[in-house]
Amino acid sequence: MAEPVIRFQGVSKSFGSKVVLQDLSLDIPRGQTTVILGPSGTGKSVLIKLLVGLLEPDEGSILVEGVDVATATEAELFEVRKQIGMLFQDGALFDSLSVADNIAFPLRRHTTLSDEAIAAKVAELLAKVGLEGIEELMPSSLSGGMRKRVSLARAIVMDPEIVLFDEPNSGLDPVTSDEIDALIGRMKDELGMTFIIISHDIVGTFAVADKIAMLYNGGLIADGTPDEVLHSREDVVRRFLKRNMELPPL
Ligand SMILES: Nc1ncnc2c1ncn2[C@@H]1O[C@H](COP(=O)(O)OP(=O)(O)OP(=O)(O)O)[C@@H](O)[C@H]1O
Ligand SMILES: [Mg+2]
Repeated sequence: MAEPVIRFQGVSKSFGSKVVLQDLSLDIPRGQTTVILGPSGTGKSVLIKLLVGLLEPDEGSILVEGVDVATATEAELFEVRKQIGMLFQDGALFDSLSVADNIAFPLRRHTTLSDEAIAAKVAELLAKVGLEGIEELMPSSLSGGMRKRVSLARAIVMDPEIVLFDEPNSGLDPVTSDEIDALIGRMKDELGMTFIIISHDIVGTFAVADKIAMLYNGGLIADGTPDEVLHSREDVVRRFLKRNMELPPL
């Protein structure tokens, strides 16, 4: 496996008496695609919030490029967050801003690029996600698949080292969902960024993943290549997979 860009080490997190994560350790390899699977309520979103410093762990460390976000200063956290692009569930575009302004938002905020340079970058990214020329459209006139593509363009506009996808297929019909999986697969090959995908869509997951981690009962019940996970003998893993795909016989 490649050198880890993110390391969760002995991470525990509870809310009151509810233990969500317990002594969890997970390495995210650089330049690869890691998919985090798990039933609802197992702490997938909590894991992501810990990673960007929106939540603090009770114990353990979370190293992003060697910086422990659990103990980082605000200035260090700002630097870490600049290296992370996020594609939120449901697209989360600003409805009052055009497509171009949505994609340009992080550039205006974090860089001093000229308007021409920003326009060129926006056009380049729209072409990359297969949506040339839609700069002036408003989010309300986009289909669900287009919204995801625009969100993806915005997530990578700062050339982040790491991109987090929260349920990139949610709310999409199967055909559009396959198109988004194909786009993520292409982006992965083209950009060489580290992708972390939170997903319930197991079939699409196996097509793009280099590594799969499955959360269950506060820890990882599976952590390996898609092939290793597919052949897991853990009953919970097999039941989770079986609902969505034909499993090979043991
Ligand atoms: N801020 C919080 N305060 C209290 N409990 C929380 C908080 N955030 C998350 N939880 C609890 O932690 C558990 C894990 O939540 P999380 O949102 O990470 O699940 P998930 O795996 O992302 O689920 P889903 O697949 O439904 O999105 C849940 O029981 C949730 O109620
Ligand atoms: Mg969640």
